[in-house]
Order: sequence, then C-alpha cells, then structure tokens
Amino acid sequence: MDATIGNHFEKHEEMDKTLICEVIRQSLAQADSAQLLRNRLYLSLRQAILDHRLEGGTLLPSSRQLCQELAIGRKTVVHAYEQLLMEGYLESRAGSGTYVSEALSGRSAFITPRRLIGTRREGLSRRGNQIASQGASSTIQRGAFIPGVPDTDLFPFAVWRRLMGKYTNKNMARFLDYASSGYGPLKTVIAEYLSVTRLMKCQARQIVLLNGTHQALDLCARMLCDVGDRVWIEEPGYWGARNVMTAAGLTPVPIPLDERGIAPRPQDWKNSPRLIYVSPSSQYPTGTVLALDRRLELLEGADSHGAWIIEDDYDNEQHYDKSTVASLFGLSQKQRVIYLGTFSKVMFPGLRLAYMVLPEDLVEAFQVGNSELYRGGRLIEQAALAEFIADGHFTAHIKRMRSVYKERRDCLCEALDKRLAGAIELSGGHAGLQLLYYFTEPIDDAMVASDAMSKGLIVRPLSMYYQDQGQVRSGMNLGYGGVSVERIRTAAPMLADVIEARLLRRERLRRT
Ligand SMILES: Cc1ncc(COP(=O)(O)O)c(C=O)c1O
Repeated sequence: MDATIGNHFEKHEEMDKTLICEVIRQSLAQADSAQLLRNRLYLSLRQAILDHRLEGGTLLPSSRQLCQELAIGRKTVVHAYEQLLMEGYLESRAGSGTYVSEALSGRSAFITPRRLIGTRREGLSRRGNQIASQGASSTIQRGAFIPGVPDTDLFPFAVWRRLMGKYTNKNMARFLDYASSGYGPLKTVIAEYLSVTRLMKCQARQIVLLNGTHQALDLCARMLCDVGDRVWIEEPGYWGARNVMTAAGLTPVPIPLDERGIAPRPQDWKNSPRLIYVSPSSQYPTGTVLALDRRLELLEGADSHGAWIIEDDYDNEQHYDKSTVASLFGLSQKQRVIYLGTFSKVMFPGLRLAYMVLPEDLVEAFQVGNSELYRGGRLIEQAALAEFIADGHFTAHIKRMRSVYKERRDCLCEALDKRLAGAIELSGGHAGLQLLYYFTEPIDDAMVASDAMSKGLIVRPLSMYYQDQGQVRSGMNLGYGGVSVERIRTAAPMLADVIEARLLRRERLRRT
C-alpha cells in the first residue's frame, strides 16, 4: 500500500478513537457525581449508546486505552465494560475488541429522542445547552403504546368546527387580540366545573388561562422562585416538570415515593423547598393516589416552611373504578396550593389550553406576569371551548371516552396478565391514559424499550422518569388511550414476546 495513504488511514483511525474517548469523557462529566465512579462510567456509557452518540458497531477503545485517556483505574473500566457486555449493549469479537452492539444500530432514539448530550453547541448559553441535553419528549405521538395520549379520532369534530367557525369571522375581530387575562366566560364555566367535580371553592377571577401545563409551570417558577431555589419533584416523576423547572434556573430535588404517594423524610424538610410539584390524584407515572394523612402533612409542611405546592391534576377526568379523589387545593386551609388543569387529555393536546387556580393573593401578580412573559391569546379557542362546556358537549365527551378508555385499559391488563403474570406488577391504574408496570426481575427497561421499538412498539422505560439514576426501579409506562382494542390485542402479545426474550436471556446469563 502507498505509504502516504497508509499513514492517512492510521491517522484517521486515531482521530476516531480520540473522538470516541471525548464522547465518553463528556458523558462522564455529566453523570451524577454522587454515584460511585464505576457506576458513573457504566451509566454514562449506556446513555451515550442509547442516545446514539456511540452508534451500533463502533469499536470502543480497549480498557487499557480508556483508563489512560480518562485517568481512572483499569478495574473501573473493566467493570463497566463487563456490565454492558452482560446486558447486551456491547459485544466482544474474538481478537478484534469490544464493540457497541450491532443490534442497536438504526433503532429510533425514542428512549431519549431529542437529547443532544455531549454535543455542546458553542452558540448556545449554558442554559440552552442544558435544555437541549435534557429533552425527553417524543417526536412520535401516536401508536401502541405512547403514554398520555387521548383518542382524537373519537373527538366530536362537527360540534367543534361549528363553534370555532362562530368566533372566526369579521364581526369577531376582538377575538384576535392579546388576551392575557383570558376569556371570562371560560373561566366561569371552569370554576363551576371544578366546584362540582373537584370540590373546589374558587372564583372565576382566581383562574389564569395558559398555553398548556408547561407554561403554567414556567410561570409558577418565575413568579414564586429565584434562581437556585429548590423544587421538590416526585421520584420517579414527570420529566417535563423537572425540565421546565431546571430551565427556569431552579434546582430540582428528587423526593421518594411509596405506594401511598410522595414521602418526604425529616431530613428533606431541613433543606426545605420553595416549590413542591406533585400529582396527588394519580401520580405520574406510577398512578398512586396520595394518602389523606400524607396530604395533610404536605400542606402543613408547606405552610410551616413557606413553600408553595403545585398540584398537577392532569388526568383527573379519566378515572374508572373509584370515584374521583378530592383535590389538594380544596383541602388547603392556608392557601398554599396552586392547582393546574389541562384540556390536553380531554380535548386534544394541540389545543394548548390549560388553567391554573391561584390563591387570592397571587392572582393580580400572576396576571401581570402572564401578560409580560407570554402576552396570551387564543380567544377563539377559549370562546369555542366555553360554549363546548356550557352546552354539555364536554361532559358528554368525558363520559363517552371514560367507557372507551376503561375497556382499553382492561384489555391491556388482561392481555399482559395472561402472558406475563409474575414477571410484571401493576402500579395504580385507576385513572389516566396509561399503565405503569414494574418488572419483578431487574431486567434493563431501556433495552426492553429498544427491543420493542424494533417491532414498532413504543414503551417508555420507567428509568427515564428518575433524576437519581442510582435509585431506579425497572418498569414500563404503557399508553392505551390512543390505541384501539383491536390493536391492543395484536400489540400486547408482541410486547410480551419482547419481555419474555429478555427474561430468558437474563436467565441464561445467570446460569453461565
Ligand atoms: C404529568 C403531566 N402533567 C401535565 C401534562 C399535560 O401537559 P400540557 O397541558 O402542557 O399538554 C402531561 C402531558 O403528558 C403530563 O404527563
């Protein structure tokens, strides 16, 4: 071979190795520093593989090379490689080295679809880089088993079209203005609706209308907190809330959960938070209901430590077996709770309409904040929605969908139980559009999600809902709201195949 070309190839290969080491170094720098180094290396390598920063088929540096590059012990690297080999992320080829598993190439990056970890962009601020690196929302929004998605095919389009048309004409030009305080009649019907369904005593003037829960959370963070303030987030919890809070400069603190809901320990109160984000009626993603004594303790703790509670009641309309649980807002004597509701689940997510109910003292300032930060608008949609509710279409749609969703939930439970009883354990399930299952064996839920994806199935691994990767339980969040019974019947056995194959593989590895 021509010597110059040979040198060029050698040089190119060397560059690749340097780049791979740099990806691993960056990933390691972002890993949770509270973890042992060997766990940190394992987790950061795994994340780099799942994010496709290390593609399937990539030859990794030898353990000797990597320990020199990262200035860490060889045993640490060997441990991480062995763990990843055992779990199937890596494969070793005799005489050739350790590779990222080929089976992972070409898989959609649903698990962490928008993450750009390790690709620090020069033009972005530190905050911008942080937001880009934490993205967890999916670009895929339909299909088995996307969590949290309603069935929009069954939405009463004809009624909605008529109502939207009524407010979309020349005589209604005022509906095209900014509207930071929101459409009054919509706030009135929401207040009436909440007093009946959630036992909440509130006036229309306590309600602020916003473009979705994320915007409501952002407004709370900006109006109630300063940069660096602590916000408690249930662990596992809604990554969307965590990301919005982090983007607003707050410090999210994971607070453990048990089967009775959020369970702060005495030491947690010593470092008291400014905000407490909870989903008490149906915790996301575990579906647990916050027990009454815990509710009272939380309210008391918030009051004595000067913290605000954000109650995210995102799935309140979809409840099946038990009657709806009274709101925390309604229980609060001291006005420490901000209640959030959304129309994303009952109407459709693209409507971008949510509301917050505020303690009296906060109303004026929040309205100014809303106007200054986001201006507000969508009066046509707000007017159409007010009439949709007032004319009874809203309640009728909820009632109809409740029985549709209940049938789908039961169908999914039954199909999975039939094949996987003993291997999975249901958490909650009384409400919502999704089911959370724990795996009773510690199989890697990210790998289950990846295997499922190769069959066209979407599974949200429970591990992605944790802030502290050292605390994770393995499981899967499965949406059924937007999936027909017929599709559940074909898709659930396919998912069971995937899980059984993982269990078998684990069993084989245990025996060897
Ligand atoms: C826990 C939780 N809260 C709220 C929402 C709704 O958010 P939005 O109102 O922005 O659509 C979701 C969406 O999936 C959610 O999972």
